[in-house]
Amino acid sequence: MYSEKVMDHFTNPRNVGEIENADGVGEVGNASCGDIMRIFLRVKDNVIEDVKFKTFGCGAAIATSSMITEMARGKTLEEALVLTNQAVAEALDGLPPAKMHCSNLAADALHAAINNFKEQSD
Ligand code: FES
Repeated sequence: MYSEKVMDHFTNPRNVGEIENADGVGEVGNASCGDIMRIFLRVKDNVIEDVKFKTFGCGAAIATSSMITEMARGKTLEEALVLTNQAVAEALDGLPPAKMHCSNLAADALHAAINNFKEQSD
C-alpha cells in the first residue's frame, strides 16, 4: 500500500526535533483527523540552513514531514515557497489516495514557517 520511500521516511524520519530560538515556526492542523505538524527553521542570508519538524500524526504525515525537510534544506526562501504538497507526495513515489490529504500538511507547515520568519524580519 505504501511506497518504499514512504516506509523509509516513516520508520527512519529525518530532521525530527525542534530548533531552539528558531527564526521561523509554522504549525498547521488537519481538521479532518486532528493531526498537527510543526516546522522550525534556521535562516541565514535568505537560505534555509536548518529545518526540523515535530508531527503528531499518522505515518503518511510523518513521512511527508521528513521529506519536506530534506527538500527545503539549502533552498532559498523563494525556492522553498514554491514547493507544493503535490511535489512532496511525488518525491515519496506517491501516497495511497485515502492518504493524500495527509500530505497537505507538509508544504503548508513549511510555508507557514517561512511567513512567520518574514513577519518577524519585517
Ligand atoms: Fe491525519 Fe494522516 S490521518 S495526517
